[in-house]
Amino acid sequence: MDKILVLDFGGQYNQLIARRVRENNVYAEIKPYNKITVSDIKEEGYKGVIFTGGPNSVYDEMSPHYDPEILNAGIPILGICYGAQLMAYMGGGVVESAADSSEYGKTIVNFKNHAIFKDVKSPSVCFMSHTDYIAKTPDSFTVIADTDKCPCAAMCDDKRKLYAVQFHPEVTQSEYGKQIISNIVFDICKCSKDWVMDSFIETTVSSFKEKLSGKKVLLALSGGVDSSVAAVLLHKAVGPNLVCVFVDHGLLRKNEGDFVEKTFKDKFGMNLIRVNAEQRFLDKLKGVTEPEKKRKIIGEEFIRVFEDEGKKIGKVDVLAQGTIYPDVIESGKGDSAVIKSHHNVGGLPDVISFDEIVEPLRDLFKDEVREVGLKLGIPKELVFRQPFPGPGLAVRVIGELTKEKLDTLRDADAIFREEVDKAGITDANQYFAVLTNTRTVGVMGDARTYGYTLALRSVTTDDFMTAEWTRIPFEVLEIASHRITNEVKGISRVVYDITSKPPATVEWE
Ligand code: XMP
Repeated sequence: MDKILVLDFGGQYNQLIARRVRENNVYAEIKPYNKITVSDIKEEGYKGVIFTGGPNSVYDEMSPHYDPEILNAGIPILGICYGAQLMAYMGGGVVESAADSSEYGKTIVNFKNHAIFKDVKSPSVCFMSHTDYIAKTPDSFTVIADTDKCPCAAMCDDKRKLYAVQFHPEVTQSEYGKQIISNIVFDICKCSKDWVMDSFIETTVSSFKEKLSGKKVLLALSGGVDSSVAAVLLHKAVGPNLVCVFVDHGLLRKNEGDFVEKTFKDKFGMNLIRVNAEQRFLDKLKGVTEPEKKRKIIGEEFIRVFEDEGKKIGKVDVLAQGTIYPDVIESGKGDSAVIKSHHNVGGLPDVISFDEIVEPLRDLFKDEVREVGLKLGIPKELVFRQPFPGPGLAVRVIGELTKEKLDTLRDADAIFREEVDKAGITDANQYFAVLTNTRTVGVMGDARTYGYTLALRSVTTDDFMTAEWTRIPFEVLEIASHRITNEVKGISRVVYDITSKPPATVEWE
């Protein structure tokens, strides 16, 4: 299979670069610059290399550099931002820093006629983020793009197939960025389109069939996207030898536990053990109000439940995990195998006795995992499931938990999610209800009520590290509020959370 190497110099868009390449059905992998040598690169047979951006200046003592021999390796290279400056520096050009040449954000770029700019309109908008710039290209290079401030927005050495762009083609703000990446991948690197999810499924299943033949495989299924897709993929390979354990801690959303069980047991015919541990968790959480304490108790209890199940199941040969590519790569730091430290399964390797770990999704980005999930026939509700915290509704019932409060929240939350879905609000990335611990006075008919205040929360975000509160139309909020106060007993007031992250977090606890 043809593949492109994304050589990581610590830039913030590195994963995006690999994803953009993969969108062209060409496999790309990310390696830190200090973990792969020029001879490794040659040996691996990469069809092309992309130098990423990075936060440094090439003249900084600590800035990441690379063996200049790579420029003569006969492999096409594209340098992006810092990667472009590094290419200039390595080739003998001059990089300078000048505050009045720095550019940030959407910038008009003038392109010359060149193969890497095939079908790119000139001038057009690109995303820039730099202070340093290439003041003088190396002798063998020619400038092929510029801006008002930047004399060299792109350069090339066609003979050695070396290309560099000061802007970021991988971000959507660069109008023709996708086109440029596609030109590089196909016209320059001559890659074939052989990274497709159908063949990923086929090769993964057949390799696991062979590798895991006759072995007992255990997977902790949370009902989230990653573990669900990993489960179905492995089930195709080993059938009943896969045992999935689904711990229902009683803190799931309305009907969620039943849905997960039905999907995997009935639809896929899997060997699924559902552990109904609601009472166990409620007992442990009785009287606990402090958020961190709640989270800790749930995490620990989860491990204990699994430990008990593990004793019943006995020794397994293989522990399977739903680790995905972003869990594996840690930008600029090394690509050592990380055993997924997901809240729900963090401590499993310690309490289960097994010989090896398999991670069938460790090469896939989230959107690829979803594509595989759909192709495997996993219901859309699971494949496009919103992120859901490991401690579940425990962090959405403020203060002490009771079964009644959880049921109240479940009903209200289901109504809110249903109304947002019905309204087709595409920029709501995570939306849910929170049962506050505040009771307020209301009036229903002629009677006084004294019920809980329910908060509705919806965020718009790419990465959940920062988030904006979603501008849900008032009409939708009104329907949700009306339905909740009418249909859910015990709630007398509904409010909408209009705080972004930061300063707030997405979850209330
Ligand atoms: P916060 O509240 O930190 O949430 O802004 C950011 C995202 O992470 C989810 N979240 C969790 N996910 N285990 C998880 O797997 C957890 O303990 C946990 N806590 C928060 C949250 O739902 C949001 O998507």
